[in-house]
Amino acid sequence: MQIVETVVEMQKIRRSLKGSVGFVPTMGYLHEGHLALVRRSREANDHTIVSIFVNPTQFGPNEDFDRYPRDYPRDFALLEKEKADFVYLPTPAQMYPEGYNTWIEVNGVTDRLEGAVRPGHFRGVSTVVNKLFNIVQPARAYFGQKDAQQCVVIRKMVVDLNMNLEMIVVPTVREVDGLAMSSRNVYLSPDERQQAPVLNQSLELAKKLWLEGERDSAKIRLAMVDLIKQSPLGKIEYISIADALTLRELEKTESPALISLVVRFGKTRLIDNILLGKP
Ligand code: PAF
Repeated sequence: MQIVETVVEMQKIRRSLKGSVGFVPTMGYLHEGHLALVRRSREANDHTIVSIFVNPTQFGPNEDFDRYPRDYPRDFALLEKEKADFVYLPTPAQMYPEGYNTWIEVNGVTDRLEGAVRPGHFRGVSTVVNKLFNIVQPARAYFGQKDAQQCVVIRKMVVDLNMNLEMIVVPTVREVDGLAMSSRNVYLSPDERQQAPVLNQSLELAKKLWLEGERDSAKIRLAMVDLIKQSPLGKIEYISIADALTLRELEKTESPALISLVVRFGKTRLIDNILLGKP
């Protein structure tokens, strides 16, 4: 496994690669969810490139950019074990040199959910992903369903900008108690960690109601709220029941629907989601 640190070096390596390249963009502090993406890439491609870059432009001024967990030696060891071919590790100065001033804005699907509470977040995500795609030029790129809105936004960018790559969304990987794996789970105190599976439990309850025929979004949301309130350390930020493609809120939970929620545990925002019906 080769570690690559500069744009020029990555582009040079890319030009030398024959066959297909699978790409897994990450912000590091890897967990099983990331490794599932790497495995999928290895199965389908001749080469797998994983980027690790904590992208400053997708964090708001009061968000956790400085304290976002980082452990490169541990990440390298995990990726070596998964037989990733290259780890691309650019610096902020490489990605955003002095005078950098070009941004990708995906409109519509970014003005709600995470986009509404984290202004500028998706502008940072779509810009950095676009830059990474340009540098790595993958045939396939792999993203986790856990960041459902990010998947919708990047898919829209790929389609709208005629990008010559296939975007693959891989199901969320969960801890045994159902908590979605996330690098931010390390922020949770033991008591918060114990109550955090309530996100997944509320989504499973919503799915059960939906499978039993309930289509009234207000009723489904209320049942989720009642369940989450039984875990007093969790404070609901939002529960959205939306069309899975446009992310517009649905009064009737018709397929394909995306139920997504944010629950705060102390300073930690946990997100999770479930898809109902086929998109
Ligand atoms: O999902 C993430 O880890 C990040 O948003 C991504 C896609 C690597 C862009 O910085």
